[in-house]
Amino acid sequence: MIMITGASGVVGRAVLKLLPRENLAVAAVTRGAGSAVFPEGVRAVSGDLFRPGWIEGALDGVEALQISPRATGPGLGELLRIAVKQGVRRVVLLSATTVEHPAGEARFAARFQHAEDLVRDSGLEWTILRLADFAANALAWAPQIRSGDVVRGAYGRAATSPLHEADIAAIAVRALRGSLRPGSTHTLTGPQSLDQVAKVHLIGAALGRALSFQELPPEHIREGMLAQGLPEEVPDRLLGSLADYAHRPGPTTGTVEDLLGRPARTFADWAHDNVAAFLPAA
Ligand SMILES: NC(=O)c1ccc[n+]([C@@H]2O[C@H](COP(=O)([O-])OP(=O)(O)OC[C@H]3O[C@@H](n4cnc5c(N)ncnc54)[C@H](OP(=O)(O)O)[C@@H]3O)[C@@H](O)[C@H]2O)c1
Repeated sequence: MIMITGASGVVGRAVLKLLPRENLAVAAVTRGAGSAVFPEGVRAVSGDLFRPGWIEGALDGVEALQISPRATGPGLGELLRIAVKQGVRRVVLLSATTVEHPAGEARFAARFQHAEDLVRDSGLEWTILRLADFAANALAWAPQIRSGDVVRGAYGRAATSPLHEADIAAIAVRALRGSLRPGSTHTLTGPQSLDQVAKVHLIGAALGRALSFQELPPEHIREGMLAQGLPEEVPDRLLGSLADYAHRPGPTTGTVEDLLGRPARTFADWAHDNVAAFLPAA
């Protein structure tokens, strides 16, 4: 059996779409098993991973575990100890490129580094996937695009090579099955460096509309996020990394193509696949 943490997140959902096709039993951890909607055949497991003492029994028969550090938080060390005790064989960690290509406040990269250290020292077979900016982060623009043709944001020239979640999932599934070399670290990015202005244009192209990006001062964006009730950590994380990517673009690697044997999906592909999210409700 494969167990996915962060199962209702962007990567978790993409992996859960693929796994049932692989004829593997799958368990998905969520804090809201009552309300979670997972694909048919996926067993929902309910619990808080920040305090994972409850998970012992749920790990019986689990061969591989996918870890989202945001979902496991400070509980990761304990979760790994229980996993070893319960006979789990392998672990796949969703880390971030900021571990090797610093961007944003150091404390965020340090959390990923800490998670990597715990996984490497766990005694389990491990694979670490260092992930670039997700293409799906552009969904934050959906409310603006549904109601108009201008996206307002900070650091329009901040550039990353955004990753399609379907490519992350395809590689994660290979790692979960044990098809990637144990003890390997892979830096995954999309195929093309794009700034925010270009991303907005590509979403417009997928929609058949001319969209534009309007630059606003970062403080304005921060205040807007706090006014929406978001914790300070969200603008700290977002604006800190955008400020750095405006001066030095995030990395671009060919690892997705090397591992999958076909080109990585582009941001234009992602925009096309997600057009519905940007359309006004009918
Ligand atoms: N976004 C990016 O650009 C980016 C880049 C590099 C790396 N990453 C990392 O990649 C990982 C996956 O990201 P993602 O966007 O797919 O996931 P995510 O949106 O961060 O979601 C993770 C899921 O974690 C679950 N969760 C949160 N707290 C939990 C707790 N205490 N106990 C159990 N579950 C908890 C939530 O599910 P429930 O509400 O169902 O419990 C949530 O849906 C994250 O660790 C993220 O930091 C992201």
